[in-house]
Order: sequence, then C-alpha cells, then structure tokens
Amino acid sequence: MKNIIIAIDGPAGSGKSTSAKIVAEKLGYIYIDTGAMYRAVTLACIEAEIGINDNEVAKLVDGIRIDLVQSDLGQRTYLNGKDVSDDIRRPDVTKLVSPVSAMAYVREKMVIQQREMGLNGGVVMDGRDIGTVVFTNAELKIYLIASIEARAERRLLELKQKGFNYSLEEIIKQISDRDIYDSSREISPLKRADDAVVIDTSNISIQEQTQKIIDLAYQIIGVN
Ligand code: DC
Repeated sequence: MKNIIIAIDGPAGSGKSTSAKIVAEKLGYIYIDTGAMYRAVTLACIEAEIGINDNEVAKLVDGIRIDLVQSDLGQRTYLNGKDVSDDIRRPDVTKLVSPVSAMAYVREKMVIQQREMGLNGGVVMDGRDIGTVVFTNAELKIYLIASIEARAERRLLELKQKGFNYSLEEIIKQISDRDIYDSSREISPLKRADDAVVIDTSNISIQEQTQKIIDLAYQIIGVN
C-alpha cells in the first residue's frame, strides 16, 4: 500500500486530533500531533520561568529535547526524557501556547523535526500549517472547520473530563482569542491550503468526518 502524507489543519476544537487518530489507526499510519510540540516548548518556558520573548525562548529551545513516542496509549510527548503528555494540556500552557508558537525560531526548529518524522510517509499529521508549510506536497490535505459553539462545547467536555471547570462563555472567549492569534500571526498563520478539502464538522458525527477522510485517502492510495 502506498504510504502517503495526510495533513489535517484547522482551528482549535475543529476535530483534528479525534479524526486524525482514527484515520491513522484505520490506515495503519502514525498519528503526529504537532500542537503537542508547541505545547511542550511552552511548558518548558513555564517551568524555566523565563520571559516570553524571542531571545530567551530561542535559547531555551536550543537546550531542550522533545520526543513524540508512539505507545499503546497513543502518542506520548516527552520533554527532556520526561513524559509530559498530561501537563501540556494544562490551562496555563494553553493560555501561553499561541505567543510561543508564533515565534520564528521556535517554528523553524519544530518544522525541521516534523519534516523528519513524516519523511517516509504513512503519517497523519495535524496542526495549523501542515498543508501550507510543513508538507506542501502532502498527497491529501484536509481543512477542518466548525462553528465556535460546537468547538467550545467539545473543549468544555474535554476539560470537564480532566477535572477543570469552566463556563461555555469562558471557553468561547479563549478559543476565539487563540483563533485570532493563530490566524493573524506573521509566520505560518493558520489558513486553508488552496488544495485542501474543507470539511465542516459542526453537525456531523466523528464517524462521518473520519469516513470522509478515509474515503479520500483510499482514492489516492488506490484501495477500496
Ligand atoms: O492543536 P493544539 O490546540 O494543541 O495547538 C496548540 C497551539 O500550537 C495552537 O494554539 C497553535 C499552535 N500550533 C501551531 O502554531 N502550529 C501547529 N502545526 C500546531 C499547533
């Protein structure tokens, strides 16, 4: 079977990681969550108590090691050899990740690592700039969108399951702030690649959204 690259981009809560995981499992591909890398850098900044400015963050990025490891529990994220998969989802990390991920040097380093991970294909990679920057030659590009309400409700549920209590209004505000930041930054802003297929996940089930992606992948791979 041909090992293609599937790039899935879209705003926070649009269903990227849920669909990417299922699609990867179905195709026997590796799922790579690139947001986890930017989150790991952000966690390292918080732990080192440094200022969020280009100089300090660049120095820090040069001295840390991020590994995405495939395990029975799915992708685990390691920072300097320590499993930080739960910590990178903390609200304080989420709050700071947009400014950290907007930094040119941070992106340069992460993109190099992402390209190495996808080099041989057979990957489903999700993020904000996978189809537009990391793998402009990806055989299949998907751009997921959903209404702000649908995305906020998903995030609220996820946070509740992790023991964090927020109101829907707070989450809507957090998501829209992050959308504005991620889409308006100078370097690699979140935007749809011209050749990406847009799927609106507001009113369709997870099964439907993943099936659409799998059908498109099969058309390219040539399997039914
Ligand atoms: O997908 P996520 O919410 O875990 O991503 C966290 C942040 O990382 C998001 O606000 C934008 C940034 N990000 C990015 O700039 N480029 C990527 N390829 C993935 C994530």
